[in-house]
Amino acid sequence: MWTFVSPKIVFGESALLHLGQVKGKKAFIVTDKTMVDLGYVKLIQDNLEKAGIGSMVFDKVEPEPSFETVMKGKEILAKNDCDIIIGLGGGSPMDAAKAIRVIYEMPEVRVEDIAPMMDITVGKIKLILIPTTSGTGSEVTTAIVLTDKAGGRKAPTVHPDVGADLAIVDPSLIMELPKSLIADTGMDALSHSIDAYISDWKNEFSDGLAIKALEMIFKYLPRSYKDPADREAKEKMHVAASLAGLSFGNAQAGLSHTIGHSLGAVFHIPHGRACGISLPYTIQFEAKEVGEFVEELAKYVGIKKEGKEAIDEFIEKIFRLMDEIDMPHSLKDVGIERENFEANLEKLLENEAMDSTFGTIKRLPTDEELQALSRCIYEGKAVDF
Ligand SMILES: NC(=O)c1ccc[n+]([C@@H]2O[C@H](COP(=O)([O-])OP(=O)(O)OC[C@H]3O[C@@H](n4cnc5c(N)ncnc54)[C@H](O)[C@@H]3O)[C@@H](O)[C@H]2O)c1
Ligand SMILES: [Fe+2]
Repeated sequence: MWTFVSPKIVFGESALLHLGQVKGKKAFIVTDKTMVDLGYVKLIQDNLEKAGIGSMVFDKVEPEPSFETVMKGKEILAKNDCDIIIGLGGGSPMDAAKAIRVIYEMPEVRVEDIAPMMDITVGKIKLILIPTTSGTGSEVTTAIVLTDKAGGRKAPTVHPDVGADLAIVDPSLIMELPKSLIADTGMDALSHSIDAYISDWKNEFSDGLAIKALEMIFKYLPRSYKDPADREAKEKMHVAASLAGLSFGNAQAGLSHTIGHSLGAVFHIPHGRACGISLPYTIQFEAKEVGEFVEELAKYVGIKKEGKEAIDEFIEKIFRLMDEIDMPHSLKDVGIERENFEANLEKLLENEAMDSTFGTIKRLPTDEELQALSRCIYEGKAVDF
């Protein structure tokens, strides 16, 4: 028995107009300063006004948001009578919005204690998520990734009842995405689709979504990166990111994320870049256990070979995609000094072992393997163990 979780999704050109049909009194918009500066907050407010809904703005969400930011948002919400929360932005504001709803509606729960098996009852406040990057898929997932600043780690969690009631996926909000964000967040989406397809919790629903997302990302990410005027490619990438979100949201993220989360916390590498650089090496490592699934993925991106040759070519194809979007192949190429890497290796491994994504990896690395794998990602060296 399995459950598939998804919010209602309104997507495509003019999807934002759907806000005009939402019922409610006042919305609490959780976002960041960039969204205010780009005029996106005003756009949301104008659309809400058409439905007679007032709003207030909390624009203090930082990238990779902390527990403290979520608590600050909840305190402001508690002083205002709102019946809708809108998370507007990349994964950071959307995750913050999810967590704010939980701790606002359940004051007895501390933000750091949100966990998969607990009882969560939310729903008095409606949660609407609106992505402005084409990557995390947070608008459709039941995952929340926050930063535990005191512990120096990212603390991802997942619960079937924390997701949005409504996701609005409107490509007009990503037309001004800077190139580096297109590349980083695109690699995040790619990692989601592949992690999901080789996860221990994979299932037919997540597989279908992962394959479609993978095909679209290979086709449209380079176009979207290279040509700022290619609206079609950008629109397709926006949809692909949500498809990839639905796939991993219903199968769980894997080893690229275990390592990516830790790299993000220790070296402050943006999430998509950290997971994306780890991805080819984690596939190489896991292929011993999930080779047949990697072969299937290879087939879906046009590779005609079989067995190890197909896996090798699939990994090579990922590296070529990375080249097309100027993505470094290793941590060394990101500019992390060797001494810095070695000095932080223990902390890196400690975080990885504590990461919640560890539970659904088919080939679970030992401590020694994780250390060797992390070194391969640093050096850009093929994984042969
Ligand atoms: N919950 C999930 O399912 C899930 C999945 C993957 C990642 N995440 C988390 O999401 C976070 C990363 O999210 P992200 O990669 O979307 O980035 P982000 O939300 O951290 O934003 C990064 C930067 O991009 C800017 N930005 C966002 N949209 C823009 C636009 N349209 N134009 C110009 N600038 C824009 C932001 O202002 C910010 O400065 C991480 O914390 C990661 O762990 C969550
Ligand atoms: Fe991710």
